[in-house]
Amino acid sequence: MSLLTEINTHEWNSSYSTDVSKKAIDAIERGRILYCPELAFQLLPDENEFLSPAFAEPKAKNISFNRNTQLLRCAKCTIEKYDRLKTMLQRFSEQAEELVHRLFPPYVSALQLGRTSFRPVEVAGRISSYRKDDTRLHVDAFPATPNQGRRILRVFANINPEGQARHWRVGEPFSEVAARFLPQVSKQWVGSASLLKWLRLTKSKRTAYDHVMLQIHDGMKADLSYQQTAAQQSIYFAPGSSWIVQTDQVSHAAMSGQHVLEQTFYLPVSAMINPALSPLKMLEKLTGRILT
Ligand code: SIN
Ligand code: FE
Repeated sequence: MSLLTEINTHEWNSSYSTDVSKKAIDAIERGRILYCPELAFQLLPDENEFLSPAFAEPKAKNISFNRNTQLLRCAKCTIEKYDRLKTMLQRFSEQAEELVHRLFPPYVSALQLGRTSFRPVEVAGRISSYRKDDTRLHVDAFPATPNQGRRILRVFANINPEGQARHWRVGEPFSEVAARFLPQVSKQWVGSASLLKWLRLTKSKRTAYDHVMLQIHDGMKADLSYQQTAAQQSIYFAPGSSWIVQTDQVSHAAMSGQHVLEQTFYLPVSAMINPALSPLKMLEKLTGRILT
């Protein structure tokens, strides 16, 4: 069965009927990927030069932009180019926001804007530790940025100029991932959350939810036999297409591809139409504990 629900649009600011919105929300909350095959992010002529890994710092996998502070991280370029790169990321961020606002009206008042990223480095053959290796199936969880149960909703756009698709593997549903990896999650040390915060190793408190999600993330990536044998499908996101996915719920791995833009949003579970489908509520049900 396909994991994609297609949204037919050419414009970032299209309007959607209530029926289309309802179906889109239902699909994304069930862990499907909303695929917009004809929604392209348009580069300005003088932005084409940014399609090169040379603009990312050698060890970085992406350049990230914080719209609130207007700071760009991990970009390597002159001031003039830095400003134009920022303009490009700002425009993508605004268009991605427009898209999710129009597609998910019930989320609008609760949706929080996260980072924007530009990923100009070829994914295949990138060397990293197993925890940072995104070619392994995983659900997103980040050591320094606890999300305390909030959903991670991401908009991606493939802007590859050479016809190269972004190849992902998508794994089994979250309920199955959780059932498989929860038994091997170790206890969170009493006081560790406060210590991590005090040492500034985390930006906010690492809740029990974050602890469990990180261990599931690491457990999945560490298990090479799981990587090969878990139920999975390959998806090729064409250049000139965009897609929306909740990466805390959908098991995914990026296998190859170069040049995507990505915008992160956070959504409190309470803003979902069906909160029971969130990783937080599923994990609370399985563990019998409150995790935030
Ligand atoms: C990831 O979130 O694991 C990587 C996705 C991508 O860059 O395509
Ligand atoms: Fe990921």
